Amino acid sequence: MSETIMSTLEENRSFNPPQGHKGHISSLDEYFSIHEQFKSDFDGTWRTLAHEHLSWSEPFTRVLDRSKAPFFRWFDGGKLNLSENCLDRHVEAGLGDRTAIIWEAEAGEVRRISYQELLDDVCKAANVIKEIGVEAGDRVIIYMPMIPEAAIAMLACARIGAIHSVVFGAFSPQALHDRIQDAEAKLVITADGGGRRGGIHAMKPGVDEALSGTCLSVQHVLVVRHAGNAIEWNAGRDIDWHQALKFQPAVCPPLAVDSEHPLFILYTSGSTGKPKGILHSTAGYLLWASLTMRWSFDFRPESDLFWCTADIGWITGHTYSVYGPLANGGTTVMYEGVPTYPDPGRLWKICADHGVTIFYTAPTAIRALKKAGDEWPNKHDLSSLRVLGTVGEPINPEAWMWYHDVIGKTRCPIVDTWWQTETGGHMIAPLPFATPTKPGSATLALPGIDVEVVDEHGKPVSEGGGMLVIRQPWPAMLRGIWGDDQRYIDTYWKKFDGRYYFAGDGARKDKDGYIWFMGRVDDVLNVSGHRLGTMEIESALASHPAVAEAAVVGRPDELKGEAICAFVVLKCKPGDKLIAELRVHVAREIGPIAKPDDIRFANSLPKTRSGKIMRRLLRDIAAGRDITSDISTLEDQSVVLQLQQPGKA
Ligand code: PRX
Repeated sequence: MSETIMSTLEENRSFNPPQGHKGHISSLDEYFSIHEQFKSDFDGTWRTLAHEHLSWSEPFTRVLDRSKAPFFRWFDGGKLNLSENCLDRHVEAGLGDRTAIIWEAEAGEVRRISYQELLDDVCKAANVIKEIGVEAGDRVIIYMPMIPEAAIAMLACARIGAIHSVVFGAFSPQALHDRIQDAEAKLVITADGGGRRGGIHAMKPGVDEALSGTCLSVQHVLVVRHAGNAIEWNAGRDIDWHQALKFQPAVCPPLAVDSEHPLFILYTSGSTGKPKGILHSTAGYLLWASLTMRWSFDFRPESDLFWCTADIGWITGHTYSVYGPLANGGTTVMYEGVPTYPDPGRLWKICADHGVTIFYTAPTAIRALKKAGDEWPNKHDLSSLRVLGTVGEPINPEAWMWYHDVIGKTRCPIVDTWWQTETGGHMIAPLPFATPTKPGSATLALPGIDVEVVDEHGKPVSEGGGMLVIRQPWPAMLRGIWGDDQRYIDTYWKKFDGRYYFAGDGARKDKDGYIWFMGRVDDVLNVSGHRLGTMEIESALASHPAVAEAAVVGRPDELKGEAICAFVVLKCKPGDKLIAELRVHVAREIGPIAKPDDIRFANSLPKTRSGKIMRRLLRDIAAGRDITSDISTLEDQSVVLQLQQPGKA
């Protein structure tokens, strides 16, 4: 556990919600009374919410089917279409002219897309995808920069019942290849490239490379010409997005699918094996995306301008850049570029220029922008902001206070939202106009969500740390791991005998019942809010010809939250350039975010008698802490000394 996280445990400042505004949930009493409603009538409360917030083509007949737990089914019998819920119903309600997306490019270009325009484009894109031969249930990979066409592609898939799987644009061709293959995708939608740090980040060549091997399932690649970089064209396979859309009618009847119809697969890292395809289905996910926008952010579609800075390659981008705001008929901001280009004031300038009212970002960004200095936010008028959110990793109180004081001018509630790719939407978060906040705590579970901190036996722990579990199913829960039911059971349900969902996070409850997260309890790293499996990085290292064996652990890092530290046993003598070469190799295998910060060589790795790598020892070594593990049983104790020598990157 990092020092910064430890310090949250002693935090005792508390901030009352701002007065004078009535939130969607406006007091703790109201919050507790909704909890009570769920307690007394779980199914009935969800039924009412699902009727109120979604438009159904056919009504559902059953709220929750637990008979095949942990494969829960929500809103069975119902039929609906997600894109109709996000677009058509708002246009039909007379909101066609309302702006759905404000997009800004790094170079400054701005596009405003109304609900009517978005609907037209989604219909055209859906027609193209259909013509290509994609049918309901087929998988479509989306590998795109942060441009409106990425959201259009997602909504177009949903319109025809195709399952999208967005792959983060900075993942390597190899990572893209693995995901295409696992999902057996029929179509890849990409762009020539995206704008980044004043230059162009080419993407289409990555797709070409990913498809050069054994991705036989892919029949076509739909290419958005956006950045203008030169690309190779594979006639017969590649289709130009704009050319294809031009000839399509702006009408495409939405396909009413079953509530449980799969909506998307999103790959995320686990503690073992290759990334797993987290599967989400339609109705429950959309209900929760829509509701949490209102509850956690107090979202007012008619007057708010909402900006979630996450890339659509992550779950945060899915739920809060695209589906949550659009399900509510609100306006969402998309920015294609880095937060510090051309200077560290860029995000604040965008907030000021467009009048952003709700801003949502990650602690790693807050820490980096804090470090850049107060002069950057102080140059811009941030008076439009009213709610500030954070997500992705525990936020240290110093960063929280800066966000609160310097960005929010002590006026805006800070909403620290805890959730996961698997949960689909927020699970633990303050209600901005009801819950008093404490710097570093995600506070209390949202209404309808039943969480607990438990010990190894599943017993609640009142003091000290434990593991976070979720005791009741929730509508946006993952429905499984694509193609691997057993792994779903083993990863999330086995630890507590099928009774509770095991989140993999360490947490602690304070005397007020507030939850404080303490980092992962498994071998998952959180680097700048990005989730990475140690095994993934180890396998990437081990695939280099010079590497015999590798172990990867995290160490506390002031800016990134966690940094990646790799301990490597070589087959040969370490050459001068090997560290740099290994880092490049990992970037090629996974993506630049997985590059180890620190690589150390040794003759062997410290292992227990049963042959398990002593990870706790490695974590202590990586962090430069005193060693707390018993190393007396190590055959070769000199490896500890070797590993304590910092590597040169
Ligand atoms: O460890 C928790 C951390 O991020 C993990 C989920 O990662 P991912 O699926 O990539 O989703 C990130 C965005 C939802 C969690 O298991 N995490 C996320 N939010 C918080 C957090 N840790 C502490 N506080 C948070 N607010």
